[in-house]
Amino acid sequence: MYGLVHRAIRDMVLTHHGPQVWEQIRSESGVGDDAFLAMQSYDDAIVLQLVAAASKVLDISQAECLDVFGQFWVLDTAVKHYGNILDSFGDEIWEFLGNLNKLHDRISSTFQGYDAPSFQLETSEDGTHLLHYRSSRQGLTPFVIGLLKGLAQHFDTELVITVVAEELNDQGQHTKFCLETGGSP
Ligand code: HEM
Repeated sequence: MYGLVHRAIRDMVLTHHGPQVWEQIRSESGVGDDAFLAMQSYDDAIVLQLVAAASKVLDISQAECLDVFGQFWVLDTAVKHYGNILDSFGDEIWEFLGNLNKLHDRISSTFQGYDAPSFQLETSEDGTHLLHYRSSRQGLTPFVIGLLKGLAQHFDTELVITVVAEELNDQGQHTKFCLETGGSP
């Protein structure tokens, strides 16, 4: 994945735990200082190494790490570095979620050859929202949960997130989320 993802993990640890803990995690992961160039594409294994090391040093599960990281990505990284993108794809959360593919398409010229996930939002008549997440990668469902929590906070919406199905396949994975709001559907 692009180095900006690694940088965001580093920024999250630095913000919440400080430089000493970050150095512990980096050293535990075996990832070199040269893996943090934002606009360079790296092997996916690096993200997994960083998450595994963070989970060990912080003594939380890898799923929890990915969840916290997803929230941080929206609320800190995206707001600081991609604020214009966050503002351009929807005034409220449902419009924004319906535009996630357009968002990733729009930036594909900047992130050459990247491998973005795809999302499909279905809204039924009773106001229930189903969000399909498809990726060529496996194991990132907790990251998506964190991203959704971050988006809910960003758009000031109360969101109940339930994983209703998760399927690992030859293409990667497909996860179906049921999303409900406390307020208007
Ligand atoms: C705000 C601006 C955003 C930018 C600039 C951005 C950019 C990126 C980039 C560069 C990657 C790495 C792909 C690669 O290196 O192959 C990525 C992955 C990803 N993005 Fe976005 N993204 C944005 C917003 C979002 C949002 C709001 C979501 C919410 C669901 C999201 C979901 C994901 C997921 C889940 C991945 C992990 C890759 C995978 O699942 O296969 N992104 N994005």
